[in-house]
Amino acid sequence: MAQTIKAVAADYGLGPFTFPRGWFVVAEARDIQRIPVAVTFFGRDYVLYRGESNRVVMLDAYCLHMRAHLAKSTSAHIVQTGANVEGDSIRCPYHGWKYGADGGVEEIPYEKDFGLARFSIGSYPIREVMGCVVMWHDPEGLAPDCEPPYLPAWDAPEAVHWQLDHLGEIAIHQIEILDNMADVHHLGPTHGAPCEYLENEFSGPQVIQRQGGFIDFYQAHLRTVTWYSGTGILLSKQQYQETVRYEFIANTPVQDGATKAWHAVLTLAKSGTPTESDIELAQQEQAGGLETFRADFEVWKNKEPAIKVIQTPHDGRFRTLRKWVNQFYMPREEAALVQSELNGILPVPGFPDASQHKEGDFESDCFQTSPE
Ligand code: FES
Ligand SMILES: [Fe+2]
Repeated sequence: MAQTIKAVAADYGLGPFTFPRGWFVVAEARDIQRIPVAVTFFGRDYVLYRGESNRVVMLDAYCLHMRAHLAKSTSAHIVQTGANVEGDSIRCPYHGWKYGADGGVEEIPYEKDFGLARFSIGSYPIREVMGCVVMWHDPEGLAPDCEPPYLPAWDAPEAVHWQLDHLGEIAIHQIEILDNMADVHHLGPTHGAPCEYLENEFSGPQVIQRQGGFIDFYQAHLRTVTWYSGTGILLSKQQYQETVRYEFIANTPVQDGATKAWHAVLTLAKSGTPTESDIELAQQEQAGGLETFRADFEVWKNKEPAIKVIQTPHDGRFRTLRKWVNQFYMPREEAALVQSELNGILPVPGFPDASQHKEGDFESDCFQTSPE
């Protein structure tokens, strides 16, 4: 999609890095099979494929030899015969150089003793989590310092596993999507669920939002606990009447100032293995969640960038939230300083905090990272 970029990271004062550190969705897991797929994120081209061991591999897209794209050939002979993926390695469609899952050149078919160890392309840490392929993006090139966010409910036998809503690309910087975490006063006009209480908790690389109010769409009180782990993956536990559901929203920078987004909802069957009707109910919940989220999405799609927010006395804590976001655009050492400055619970002026709404073990399955 052609993007007219309206604002980039530096315009928002983010930096020094152009793109953030963290785990980011790059594909739906079922879409990545043996045939290599070309993707672009973080202003860079990559290939994704599933090796014969079932491992998903992510490499830089261009071959070192003469810069052919490793995934953008359907007609080369080795692609047509399926010989381009060998074990967990991939061969270039042009002259057949072979790259391992670690990005190293393993073989040049017509050269022996050429000192292959000198040659490698980028290879990126990948996890398959909750039906998604997520990559670790790190502007400093360091290994992950945490595992991706995760819902333990995903592993329950009653879980109705989602298929993602693919929302496509929008020409908006991710920070405007993250603003939602602090945005108390859009909940009425945009979502028909005026807020009755709200607090943000800043906890290192996580920001948590606890809020609730009467939602017109369901004619019920809605209680939500929502958390970002890094800037790419939002998880939210939500309850209205007897329904508990988990919402998932992912956003990944495609280029500076443009973002790709996905959405899904997880529900649990009342008992045992999900039946057809449990699956239907889960799909309805996902459609309901999407209906609500679509209202945000439409605003984002059509707005001008809010380079600076006019934060009124009773507005949400946008400035603090944006400061929290910025930690992922700076080296880890500096990020630790931002975290120690921000860590704690911050209510919104004019609203009660969530202290009356922490009864029970509602949050016991929140804020988890995936098992290694
Ligand atoms: S361009 Fe890839 S092997 Fe020649
Ligand atoms: Fe919203």
